[in-house]
Amino acid sequence: MQGWIIPPPRSPVKLRDEFMRERADKLRKLTDWGYLVSERIRQAMEKVSRENFIPSLYRDYAYKEIPLPLPGKMATISCPHSYPLFYEPLGLDRGHRFLEVGLGSGYGAAIAREVVGSGGLVVSMDIDPVTFEFARENLEVAGYDDIVLVQGDGGAGYPEFSPYDRISVTAACAWIPQPLIDQLAPGGRLIAPVVESGVQNLVLLEKIGKQIKRKVLCQVLYVSLRGEYGEGEV
Ligand SMILES: C[S@@+](CC[C@H](N)C(=O)[O-])C[C@H]1O[C@@H](n2cnc3c(N)ncnc32)[C@H](O)[C@@H]1O
Repeated sequence: MQGWIIPPPRSPVKLRDEFMRERADKLRKLTDWGYLVSERIRQAMEKVSRENFIPSLYRDYAYKEIPLPLPGKMATISCPHSYPLFYEPLGLDRGHRFLEVGLGSGYGAAIAREVVGSGGLVVSMDIDPVTFEFARENLEVAGYDDIVLVQGDGGAGYPEFSPYDRISVTAACAWIPQPLIDQLAPGGRLIAPVVESGVQNLVLLEKIGKQIKRKVLCQVLYVSLRGEYGEGEV
């Protein structure tokens, strides 16, 4: 993947108050820009301290609209706007059973956990053992002990807890893996970046009876899906 600039690493200098101000400012902007619409997603993003999911050298950039590199191979924490960009059209809500393919830093899983609440379920998977361990530690330190974390190929989904009301794939696929569609509950929605004609389209699927309704939302730029359902590289 190309097209984004990684800022030079440096030692973090910002303190908690500054991060809180930046977070509040970012939420205002995401609302003004039209990404953030629902109160439940806004509250979740307000509650989760994004800076705690960023490698220390990049921490000061936590609220900038740039993806930042994570430990592991080909892993990034997505830009702040990406989370409402995915979760709003998904209609992620209280009580949902949610599967994330691409745990990354753990930030997206933490937001989802806040949105679905105690009556819901969050399962998140990452194929990269180093990235997985980074996220696991972040979530532990942040106090999230009720997210099911699975290290493995998320293209195959995680049938043990299926069906899922909502599925989010945070890596770009050539096609949406069939096991994920199979593990979607009736009425369920799935969102994923899909490579089509040389660009990545953010695609929203909805399972209505036996039919799958498909809508392209916008273009995005994500790291490639790895593993059996990705570009082959494990
Ligand atoms: C853009 S990052 C995810 C960002 C993450 N949602 C966050 O909040 O930090 C994409 C992630 O997908 C993971 N990934 C790639 N292929 C995968 C696969 N087949 N199964 C599970 N995870 C995969 C990568 O290791 C990487 O961590």
